[in-house]
Amino acid sequence: MIISGSNPAHVQQAADALCAGELLGLPTETVYGLAADASNETAVAKIFQAKGRPSNHPLIVHVASADSVKKFASEVPDFAQKLMVQFWPGPLTLILPRREEMAAAAAGGQNSVGLRCPSHSVALEVLNACAAKGVWGVAAPSANLFGRVSPTSAAHVHSEFGEALLILDGGECEVGIESSIVDCTRGVPVLLRPGQISRTQIEQACGLKLVNPETLSSEAPRASGTLESHYAPTAKVRLMSTADWQKALQALGPHTQNLALWSVQKPAHELMGAGLFWRAMPANATQAAHDLFGVLRDFDARGVRTIWIETPPHTPDWEGVRDRLNRAAA
Ligand code: TXA
Ligand code: MG
Repeated sequence: MIISGSNPAHVQQAADALCAGELLGLPTETVYGLAADASNETAVAKIFQAKGRPSNHPLIVHVASADSVKKFASEVPDFAQKLMVQFWPGPLTLILPRREEMAAAAAGGQNSVGLRCPSHSVALEVLNACAAKGVWGVAAPSANLFGRVSPTSAAHVHSEFGEALLILDGGECEVGIESSIVDCTRGVPVLLRPGQISRTQIEQACGLKLVNPETLSSEAPRASGTLESHYAPTAKVRLMSTADWQKALQALGPHTQNLALWSVQKPAHELMGAGLFWRAMPANATQAAHDLFGVLRDFDARGVRTIWIETPPHTPDWEGVRDRLNRAAA
């Protein structure tokens, strides 16, 4: 059931449901989350079950403000503090050492915990209403079935979980891709997942170079978003240079079938056959991130078998989008 995030009574209803151990489709500025009280093991188990996600994959715990961090984290390194000051509320998740007695199930048994204070006003209202009732953290992975495309609207969440799930409608997500994740448990900041907040911005804010997880010797914690194949639509995704898709389309001529193309360049008029669905890829990375998952879902809904996507530029601002596209195509 979808209820309205602009109605204060509905926001309270959503918070009450969370505090009562129910699941909630929660809007955030990145993507919608499938939320539950992070300290309620039974509620957290419902998330893993509904998503079909392995229960040892840790979830992100959402908090109303940086003040709630000490409820879950046993220690906050200096550089993590700087990142919080700079980017919270916002699309940045910090992995911190976990207080042993807190949110073990949500953390998938790791001795660390992922924390994020989202900037979406409706999310903050829900988190504040929960905190007022003593629920300090709300665990929420993206509200999609395991391995599938993240939802960026209430309708997307509804199409994943149906009428049985309470969904708070907060409109379309502004960012469109999941938060950047920085592991702060290894003495140096490690970028686990790129997002809208770029590598450069993170390094400038904490005054340290980001380390890549591959260069670390000890095993990285399990992270669904870091599996090679993830964020995948039903159709087969192929990344292609402009020249390559133009050539391939030329070869197919007007007889294309069940093919979708997301590219900055529009195909030549004579190649736009009835079996080709084209959507314009924004030339700007922020806008492209905003559109990405909606476009993939839209192509899937049209029943296309193949999706061709123009390879984005190899510049730092495109890192988050490139990462999601590579996984969608894997
Ligand atoms: O933007 C987002 O981050 C969204 C919204 C809902 O906040 N959430 C999200 O959650 O993307 P999810 O579960 O789909 O991805 C969270 C990622 C996973 O890859 C998870 O494994 C990783 O964060 N993660 C969470 N806690 C962790 C921990 N303690 N150590 C390592 N990775 C962790
Ligand atoms: Mg996810």
